Amino acid sequence: MKWSEFFTSSIGKKIIMSLSGLFLIAFLVVHVGLNACIWAMDDGVMFNKAAHFMGANVVPRILEIGLFAGFLLHIIQGFVLVAQNNAKRKIGYNVKMGSRGSTWYSKSMGLLGTLLLLFLIMHIAHFWVPSRITGLEPVFIDGKEYHNLYGEMVAVFTDNPLVVALYVIGCISLAWHLLHGFQSAFRTLGLSNHKYIKLIQGLGAGFSIIVPLAFAMMPVSFYFGWV
Ligand code: HEM
Repeated sequence: MKWSEFFTSSIGKKIIMSLSGLFLIAFLVVHVGLNACIWAMDDGVMFNKAAHFMGANVVPRILEIGLFAGFLLHIIQGFVLVAQNNAKRKIGYNVKMGSRGSTWYSKSMGLLGTLLLLFLIMHIAHFWVPSRITGLEPVFIDGKEYHNLYGEMVAVFTDNPLVVALYVIGCISLAWHLLHGFQSAFRTLGLSNHKYIKLIQGLGAGFSIIVPLAFAMMPVSFYFGWV
């Protein structure tokens, strides 16, 4: 099989989905860990310093380009797969599978992915654009200047119940998307034989609930003044 054929074959597309998905999962671990610094109860000092480290160093900046490429690849390939599945479904089956063929969230990956995409556009506009393009208020810590991303979170989430609700909905979509996506990625790559399937399912379920829950608690914490 030639490389060009790999990218257009259905197994090639699924492998790209799983590898880009696992890369995005790794990003979520770093992102949730870094953001958890908001709960240090130090008015954002630790969080602003950690975010500064990510923004100011070459390696994370190169990874950021990879991250946006990973998102693009995952989103475009996802839309292609959904369109192809829909086209196949229109031909129709003689036997109705009901819920036996696949679970609800496996069938709804396209819808959940689209909700996530809308969340992501809003999210990038809230934080990445001011941080990298339009500029943020500086804050001085020990005489050194930092971007006040913590202050930006206060501004975005405090007094904005609609935005907080949209973030919580985004995190619920993320949880459902991951509940299917996490184990599906391992299955596509052939890493979930009968010996490890239970472990991967357990890890997947734990990750899909704990990480989005931690993310959702961030806007909620700002709104209710818990940080
Ligand atoms: C719900 C709680 C979340 C909060 C409070 C939050 C906060 C932030 C902040 C402050 C930044 C800017 C970082 C910087 O410019 O240095 C950022 C960037 C970003 N976030 Fe989130 N985030 C959340 C959830 C998510 C989720 C669930 C995803 C993915 C599905 C996500 C994807 C991104 C991406 C792609 C960027 C840009 C990457 C970069 O700056 O390198 N975030 N987020």
